[in-house]
Amino acid sequence: MFRLVCVECGKTFPPDEIVYNCTSCGHLLAVQYDLDTLNVDRGEWNRRPLSVWRYREILPVTIPPVSLKEGGTPLYHLSRIGKEIGLPYLYAKHEGMNPTGSFKDRGMTVGVSMALQLKKSSVACASTGNTSASLAAYAAKAGIPAVVLLPAGKVALGKVAQALMHGAKVISIRGNFDRALEMVHELCLSHGLYLLNSVNPFRLEGQKTIGFEAVDQLGTVPDRMILPVGNAGNISAVYKGFTELISLGLMDRMPMMTGIQAAGSSPVVRAVHQNLPEVIPEDHPETVATAIRIGAPVNAEKALAAIRKTGGTAESVSDAEILAMQKALARMEGIGVEPASAASVAGVKKLVEMGVVDRDERIVCVVTGHLLKDPETVIRQCEPPVEIDADLPSLLSALQLS
Ligand code: F0G
Repeated sequence: MFRLVCVECGKTFPPDEIVYNCTSCGHLLAVQYDLDTLNVDRGEWNRRPLSVWRYREILPVTIPPVSLKEGGTPLYHLSRIGKEIGLPYLYAKHEGMNPTGSFKDRGMTVGVSMALQLKKSSVACASTGNTSASLAAYAAKAGIPAVVLLPAGKVALGKVAQALMHGAKVISIRGNFDRALEMVHELCLSHGLYLLNSVNPFRLEGQKTIGFEAVDQLGTVPDRMILPVGNAGNISAVYKGFTELISLGLMDRMPMMTGIQAAGSSPVVRAVHQNLPEVIPEDHPETVATAIRIGAPVNAEKALAAIRKTGGTAESVSDAEILAMQKALARMEGIGVEPASAASVAGVKKLVEMGVVDRDERIVCVVTGHLLKDPETVIRQCEPPVEIDADLPSLLSALQLS
């Protein structure tokens, strides 16, 4: 059994009510389970494949889920980068290895399943790209139409390609992501489409399984979880999941939740550093990491609580630091991620240099999306292939061999 509960005033809503914000105070909602009556067996979980659905007792879906086999992503030990930074226990959870290449699939398998469970016949989102790619694919699997709103000219090529090919109705607006989200929210309220941005509390339920898997793969609780932050849903989701495992007696301590933003788009970092009660939105966010180019993160109140209650922190990294770490992950570890994903590892590097992170901490960085999502940014950073005549002397000369 579960219900929706307002994170501010505690008002509750039945599980089948279509509601995205508290009708009394307007704050965010969260899914609340009767954890003390739940029968969760750790041994049974361990016998199931590593996936979102391993943890189905603490997910809201009761129908056969709309699944493309999401989750079960690799956890890599970053041995070379860790050595260089001075962190022997540094890991990356590669969420780019999900079906559509980002962690959003964990949210969408739950979110689109809930759309069907709630008898909704169409879905919609605003997106910096990955959410739209994922929603388009899961809506296709469910056999229902999807509408996605994108900020024109600010979405990486691979993501637009996915949304188009999976058959969503793709609309580019002349405005940024924050405006697109306002518009799609209004559209959903007025026309009954089911809103699948991270303001939808069910979507975050799927995303909390990143943390569950990391603990299962590591065999212990990490000291710190580091996530790139855009709309601030993912860090909130992972924190919520951990609070549930602790309530269930399946985890004995809480990792320090740490969020990394791009310097040109860092309202959460500012709120943490200046100890503000809430974030002050930025009107013109800008970064090469277009996935996290967000000035008014809707889940900020949940994310600030997650960071503050766990003794975590937030930090920003420059575009140059992001791109340098993207390259380091690719060349030193063989891990291909998009720029926003590299922010988490660039962030830990900076935090070590600042003396905020201890060198013996066990740290999981979530790398959120695949390298192929944003080929144009990759091409801009690398030397183009050397074109030669099709003969061996030309090849030897190109390789500077005699
Ligand atoms: N990394 C990637 C690759 C993302 O696509 C996003 C968000 C984030 C990190 C940040 O996660 O918003 O939960 O804090 N992308 C959204 C989208 C906004 O529309 O695809 P967050």
